[in-house]
Amino acid sequence: MKDKKLFLKAFLKNPLRTGSVIQSSSFLADKMIQSVDFGKVRCIVELGCGGGVMTKNILKKMPENSKLISFEIDSSLAEHTRNKIRDSRLVVINDTAENIGQYLHKYGMPNADYIISSLPLVSLPKKTSINILRYAYECLGPGGQYIQFQYSLASLKGLKQIFSAVSISFVFLNLPPAFVYVCTKI
Ligand SMILES: C[S@@+](CC[C@H](N)C(=O)[O-])C[C@H]1O[C@@H](n2cnc3c(N)ncnc32)[C@H](O)[C@@H]1O
Repeated sequence: MKDKKLFLKAFLKNPLRTGSVIQSSSFLADKMIQSVDFGKVRCIVELGCGGGVMTKNILKKMPENSKLISFEIDSSLAEHTRNKIRDSRLVVINDTAENIGQYLHKYGMPNADYIISSLPLVSLPKKTSINILRYAYECLGPGGQYIQFQYSLASLKGLKQIFSAVSISFVFLNLPPAFVYVCTKI
């Protein structure tokens, strides 16, 4: 099944968890990696890879011997992305993003340089969102960044409670237009 159909199916099955009817635009995917210093990257964690729009874009710039660990809770989307993107640097994990630490350990990574998240923080259960942000903070190395897009500013307060430095930009060319938060672990 094609990306778009599969994504729509995931939305119809669980709208709050999927968070969007359609996949992100290439403009948003580019904005999400604008602050990433790919020269220094050893490990990037992606949260909510869906059909792999962001995943492909990240891999285009990642160094040869680096690792991209992408989480996707929907088994059909995870399997689709795993089969579609054949790249030895990529591991697609069909599990909740709450288990980041466990998988970093499994793949021999002391921490993540960047965490790039498409998770719908606002529509997930509050406890799940808070846990994911806390674990993400713990898993980042010093100076690491948690990069998150959202369709509103509702998550700003929660992100600022965990990360001391948060900057925001806006991507108009996406349906719907989106805010991109870049949160740095100082
Ligand atoms: C808004 S979609 C983004 C998909 C894709 N990255 C994009 O930008 O088009 C959010 C994705 O997060 C996944 N998701 C939601 N909760 C999750 C969780 N706790 N752990 C891992 N993935 C989750 C959903 O299944 C969905 O595919």
